[in-house]
Amino acid sequence: MAPMPRPSRSEYGPHWALSPDVTFLNHGSFGACPQVVLDEQSRLRALLESDPMAFYFEIGPALWRESRVALAEFLNADVAGLNFVPNASTGVNTVLRSLRFEPGDEILVPDHAYQACRNAVDQACVRSGARTVVVKLPFPPESDEQVVELVLAAVTPRTRLALIDTVTSPTAVLLPFERLTRELQGRGVDVLVDAAHGAGLIPLDLQQLGAAYVAGNCHKWLCTPKGSAFLHVRADRRQLIEPLITSHGYSAPVSPEEKLRLEFDWQGTQDTTPWLCIPAAIEMIAAFVPGGWPASSGFDACRHGDAADPGRPCCAVHDGARGRSAHAPASCRVRHPGRRVCLAATRRALPAGVGGPV
Ligand SMILES: Cc1ncc(COP(=O)(O)O)c(C=O)c1O
Repeated sequence: MAPMPRPSRSEYGPHWALSPDVTFLNHGSFGACPQVVLDEQSRLRALLESDPMAFYFEIGPALWRESRVALAEFLNADVAGLNFVPNASTGVNTVLRSLRFEPGDEILVPDHAYQACRNAVDQACVRSGARTVVVKLPFPPESDEQVVELVLAAVTPRTRLALIDTVTSPTAVLLPFERLTRELQGRGVDVLVDAAHGAGLIPLDLQQLGAAYVAGNCHKWLCTPKGSAFLHVRADRRQLIEPLITSHGYSAPVSPEEKLRLEFDWQGTQDTTPWLCIPAAIEMIAAFVPGGWPASSGFDACRHGDAADPGRPCCAVHDGARGRSAHAPASCRVRHPGRRVCLAATRRALPAGVGGPV
């Protein structure tokens, strides 16, 4: 069988550490980090190892504050509610383990949700006697209206929380998460937004979104080193949430606000450099592309593909160059007009004789 032709690399490819032998189609799973950001991480690690006491007590906390401020600006988030966690799974679990559910309570989750997060919902329900209510969404959805209608139809007086993705993992659909958040919260249902595919992929404005909770990754589309993610908690829900790890902050004789900060900011000895690289990633990736953010984001690549040539696919294959080098020959948008589908995943037409979709 003839080998499948490989997409050529764009001029951005050399910025990534990916092997030239690899055509990286699955950026959405773990992300990939540009060499300049990896270099920054090495610099910070060398600094840490040269003087651990100074790093953990002085240098690190100052850089940590700078990182939180930089990410808060990037996401237009309330910096006081922005906490670093190692990954989106931790953010989702933190919320689900903090909240107290009663028997008979309901947690809504669309069937396009990421299975690991769905598992966390199921576990919270098993623990408490609450019930997971799965909303079946078609693939592809016909419209945002259809998605909103189906989700809202599942709301009952017992619905306490809804887990809503920005972009779904198994189906790569950009959900109308802003509208769902507004409508659900307007009905008294708090929303936990799973923004694992958010920062760096689509425009995220957390103040405007107003979700009770947003868990998101930086190591996917913001291309930070792995282990860099956030949990944003709205001011009126902060007293309900505590980190998964109990450490020094728990007994600190400080105000409740400071206590929450201490509890989230120190969860035992760990390598903090993935979070400390956030400002560098924001700055360095913006510098790759004329126009900076949001031109560097996958979302813009999608829109560009669509606007420039409506017959051209909106989904791009990421081969180490932020999806700009190879547009997939089969277009989700072309096939599903009116739906915004993002490049967290893509479907490719395979040459004749080559089996199954990628
Ligand atoms: C929609 C969604 N949520 C959550 C996650 C979990 O991300 P992490 O493994 O960084 O916790 C993923 C990972 O691919 C995802 O696609």
